[in-house]
Amino acid sequence: MINPWSSAQYFDYEKLIKEFGIQKPNNYFNFFMFRRHLVFGERGLEYIEYAVKNKIKFNAMTGLMPSGQMHLGNKLSIDQIIYFQSLGADVYIAVADLESYATRGISLEKAHETAVNEYIANYISMGLKPCKIYFQSENFDTENLSYILSNETNMNELKAIYGLTDSSSMLHVNSPLIQAADVLHTQLNHLGGPRATIVPVGVDQDPHIRLMRDLAKRFRIYNVKIEDGKISVYIKGSDDPKNKIDMAIKLLSGHGYECNANYEYRAIYVKNSSPEDKIKIDIDLAVEESKINDFAFIEPSATFQKLETGLKGGKMSSSVPDSLISLNDSESEATRKIKHAVTGGKQTVEEQKKYGGNPDICPVYELYKYHNSDDKYVQRVYDECKGGVRMCGSCKTEAAENISAMLKMLGEKKDESLGKLDNYLIKRSS
Ligand code: TRP
Ligand code: SF4
Repeated sequence: MINPWSSAQYFDYEKLIKEFGIQKPNNYFNFFMFRRHLVFGERGLEYIEYAVKNKIKFNAMTGLMPSGQMHLGNKLSIDQIIYFQSLGADVYIAVADLESYATRGISLEKAHETAVNEYIANYISMGLKPCKIYFQSENFDTENLSYILSNETNMNELKAIYGLTDSSSMLHVNSPLIQAADVLHTQLNHLGGPRATIVPVGVDQDPHIRLMRDLAKRFRIYNVKIEDGKISVYIKGSDDPKNKIDMAIKLLSGHGYECNANYEYRAIYVKNSSPEDKIKIDIDLAVEESKINDFAFIEPSATFQKLETGLKGGKMSSSVPDSLISLNDSESEATRKIKHAVTGGKQTVEEQKKYGGNPDICPVYELYKYHNSDDKYVQRVYDECKGGVRMCGSCKTEAAENISAMLKMLGEKKDESLGKLDNYLIKRSS
């Protein structure tokens, strides 16, 4: 069971794919994190591919915990957010200030300050364009929606997903619903209506993703399914389905589909369809449905990124200060940490020359692999290491120079980025 509240980490990505139904991304998205399989898994990513290919509006959404400092490891979701924004996504970011208050006792004022100075300023310096960043504690839409969503789940489901017991804190009931609302509220009609929505997260968040995808489906009137290689649409509810069936058939016929209705079974069978039509039909019907349903959500999609290894070999964790590089570290501080990192190198220079190093277990190599988008360069580092022509000392110096250049850029842009906050932070809605 994956537990979003434990500090355990998950390295066995193959197992996660086999046992949790996470998919391996195809190679449609040409971004280094995909090319290098740093994004190792996804759910529903085909919706985003469809939206991009067909130039349909889509959303990208993620959240940040305003605790501690932003470090290299939690930069990865934002790298993806910026990438999806460059493909046309409307971006939303939730500052999980309620969550950090509840789980870590961080006051809302402190959370605000940390979010702005440690996280959002860096996002802007990294290239995030204007978008909608909000604080959970100030967003009336997400608060209301989490309440509404709660009506479509129950304790048995939450127990099964999260391993909750009768003595679990109600926080573990509330926070998944708030997170689902964070993501799904971006599809409310006043914000643009139903849209494919990509959520880049660490795999520890997968239970939340599964729950919000199921909730999204349960709120739909039109449920689009693949049956015997064709598309069927089922109308939820127990009212007279005639109007809803006719409305859907009218839309589908307009797109060239031939439909049979069965009013008794509340079903529409799309005769000249194939499984590939599912995404199109689902999105078109969601948009149509939003005229009569305030909560016509398209199941959100997710990408799961690998966890970067800490510089000391284990987890990148603020409880081991030298295991991570904060984006607010000075250049000399970062350099010192990199110089003291463990490596995949041999004991002696002679051995290294003879047998080569092992970049596959080297956190210094990961600094290149996770934070440099130049494939040829990163491949060269890998080959030189394996081939015994790269020595750990100079390799660390080079990595430290690269990371320092990035930190320097972030530092230099900080004030300018802070000056642009008005184009990012949305005002409290209540
Ligand atoms: N719970 C997430 C974390 O611990 C933060 C978060 C809050 C979030 N709302 C979200 C992530 C919505 C993705 C989407 O990091
Ligand atoms: Fe790691 Fe570089 Fe040493 Fe290779 S040469 S083991 S990549 S530090």
